[in-house]
Amino acid sequence: MGLVNEPVLVFDDVHLNFGNVKAVNGVSFTVNPDELFAVIGPNGAGKTSIFNVLSGVYRPQSGSVTMHGQQLLGMKPPAIANLGVARTFQNIELFANLTVVDNLMLGRHQHIKYGTLAAFAWVGKARNEEVRHRRAVEEIIDFLELEAWRMLPVGMLPYGVQKRVELGRALAMEPKLLLLDEPVAGMNLEETEDMARFIIDIRDELQVPMIMVEHDMGLVMDIADRILVVDFGTPISLGTPAEVQKDPAVITAYLGTEASA
Ligand SMILES: Nc1ncnc2c1ncn2[C@@H]1O[C@H](COP(=O)(O)OP(=O)(O)OP(=O)(O)O)[C@@H](O)[C@H]1O
Ligand SMILES: [Mg+2]
Repeated sequence: MGLVNEPVLVFDDVHLNFGNVKAVNGVSFTVNPDELFAVIGPNGAGKTSIFNVLSGVYRPQSGSVTMHGQQLLGMKPPAIANLGVARTFQNIELFANLTVVDNLMLGRHQHIKYGTLAAFAWVGKARNEEVRHRRAVEEIIDFLELEAWRMLPVGMLPYGVQKRVELGRALAMEPKLLLLDEPVAGMNLEETEDMARFIIDIRDELQVPMIMVEHDMGLVMDIADRILVVDFGTPISLGTPAEVQKDPAVITAYLGTEASA
């Protein structure tokens, strides 16, 4: 679909207000295939709102968001998910009582074509589907090194592993664009390094384009290809880590935040 070097996503001049609050104020960026794109900014800058616009949870007052040329604005969240936009959440959203395997199987429900009723009519086909989904889930368990926990309820697992399971569930959707909202928030150094490695592998091996919101500046500067910096909903810088790091507007925004904290 399309030329290899065409952007996957074009987010264009989006405005989203909540009353007087300009949560997203004229934000534009593109995401290229195989790109790890990061969005950073102080608390309340509008990062999660950008994700909520992208996944159809919030409807902005103006702007355009296209994926492979298709307009996403106006579509409902399940329709956007069906197009292959998968996300992980700032606060983990998993089924705590279900096992790792079952949580990942739920990530595949978009791909399950033969439901229970259909299963009576086409037993063979449904069984083939089930086998295919189990296999896909086992591949993800391998990829994210979750073997040791696969049959345990997710609620029992260490926090860092739960974040990894959530990433696995998003991967189970076979995403065309993956949104990661603070993937290493609350993690210790070792968990952060593991997660960084998996994110890099998703880009380089699975070649899934990603947008990552993250406060861990070391991680962002290390692994992001390009970075958008937002402050009070407004874009203040966009470029490679090296470019963004030496941008006076970014330094001011972050020093201002530090001084007022
Ligand atoms: N549903 C909503 N109703 C009203 N205001 C909202 C809503 N969602 C977000 N906002 C406001 O929009 C602004 C941006 O919030 P958002 O959650 O996008 O910030 P963020 O950059 O993700 O912050 P954080 O780093 O703390 O996660 C904030 O002022 C927030 O209070
Ligand atoms: Mg947020």
